[in-house]
Amino acid sequence: MKNKENPSPEEGGRRRPFPGIRLKLTVFLLPLVFLLITLIAVAVTKITDDAIRNDLMQRGVAISRVVALSSGYSILSGDRLAMDRLAVETKNSTGDIEYVSIRDTENVVLAHNLIEEHGKAYVAPEPRKALGTFLETQAYETMHGSKELIEFSTPIFFSGKRVGTVSLAISRDSVLAAQKSIRKSIAIAAAVFLGIALLGTFVIASFITTPVKQLSSGVNELSGGMQFTPIPIRSRDELGELTRNFNRMAETILSQKNRLSRYAKDLEESYIATVRVLAASIDARDPYTLGHSTRVAFLACELGRKLGFSTEEIEHLEKACLFHDVGKIRTPDDILLKEQRLNLQEVEVMRRHPDEGADILRMAPSLHRYIPVVRYHHEWYNGNGYPEGKKNAEIPIHAQIISIADAFDAMITSRPYRRALTTKGAIEEILRFRGTQFSPELTDSFVRMLKEMPPMEAVSADTAGWRGMAL
Ligand SMILES: [Fe+2]
Repeated sequence: MKNKENPSPEEGGRRRPFPGIRLKLTVFLLPLVFLLITLIAVAVTKITDDAIRNDLMQRGVAISRVVALSSGYSILSGDRLAMDRLAVETKNSTGDIEYVSIRDTENVVLAHNLIEEHGKAYVAPEPRKALGTFLETQAYETMHGSKELIEFSTPIFFSGKRVGTVSLAISRDSVLAAQKSIRKSIAIAAAVFLGIALLGTFVIASFITTPVKQLSSGVNELSGGMQFTPIPIRSRDELGELTRNFNRMAETILSQKNRLSRYAKDLEESYIATVRVLAASIDARDPYTLGHSTRVAFLACELGRKLGFSTEEIEHLEKACLFHDVGKIRTPDDILLKEQRLNLQEVEVMRRHPDEGADILRMAPSLHRYIPVVRYHHEWYNGNGYPEGKKNAEIPIHAQIISIADAFDAMITSRPYRRALTTKGAIEEILRFRGTQFSPELTDSFVRMLKEMPPMEAVSADTAGWRGMAL
């Protein structure tokens, strides 16, 4: 049974959008992964920057010290040629050395890779940032023109006496280029890892959410009454176990549901059979109405065929005819079988049978479709009938057909208080109520049908005979 207080999405119409597990996992995991990759990239960048810088510092200090050690004797001996060669060869040893200067204690340049600097007073570039002292070598950042340099100054000693200073500058351009290249590589690697992490997050989320989604659609299939297809078990873990248990539960539910459906169908069929027996019993209670329901069914079905009803509608109409007076089972015998005319109070009781019939049919859902016909088969076209005084199109067409067939059969059947009318007399009587009790169109069709048939007097009133004509 559906819960009306909490309608399902199908009943309630629109399902409110909500973030799925996959989106939640992605939103939760991606920032973590992004943060982790960023931290690793920053750490790797710093480590490589430090390594490049230390390498530069060690190289500058080492070269400067080698030049200082090599030039001490030349200064004392005045061998300027050796010092120039030393300065030029050192300058040319690597591409990033900007200049090499050897000067005496008076700060006069004794050797330089540029010959024009010889004999000049050495003018040290403006230091921007001291980088520290490594053994006796001082290092600091400076600018030379537009170039960033690191200058290394190492005192020259010979026999324990200071005889001069070596200044050597290395360009930072190559270092900066190396750092830039490495940072670019790190950024590319980080982007690739981030992409892999994004893909991995989706794969992990899908791995978790796919079985959950399949379970969810399985539950929807079950609750919607659709055919259930067992969900494939794709993993040997808790989700796989859950899927296996769900499949078993669904099979059990479907099996129970099918069994209940069979029971319900059997019950319905039993009830319909009971109502048929009841209808026949009603007719049999009164010898004058024996076979009445069957004769009404015959006439109504014939009229239905003339009106172009489908086979299904004819079957529906026939059953409605059989059930139309079933409510009379609750009418006392002293009223139903009374041979004199009924008084007003008895008429009132008699008029309850449409509602009583509706109550009986209400007990079986498959008979609910006949309730309106049974309930309104005594309504009049002009609204003067009962139980509600419905009129015209408010009265179901099947009820209008039964009304006219019911009246005609009553007229051609003898009662203790009156003789049966002939077919001709009954037709005249039916025409007298055209437009009041009966629909004009139905009256015309019914009369036309009767005139095409053999007179009713020629047909045996025996139920089997009528039944044979009806079917
Ligand atoms: Fe009736």
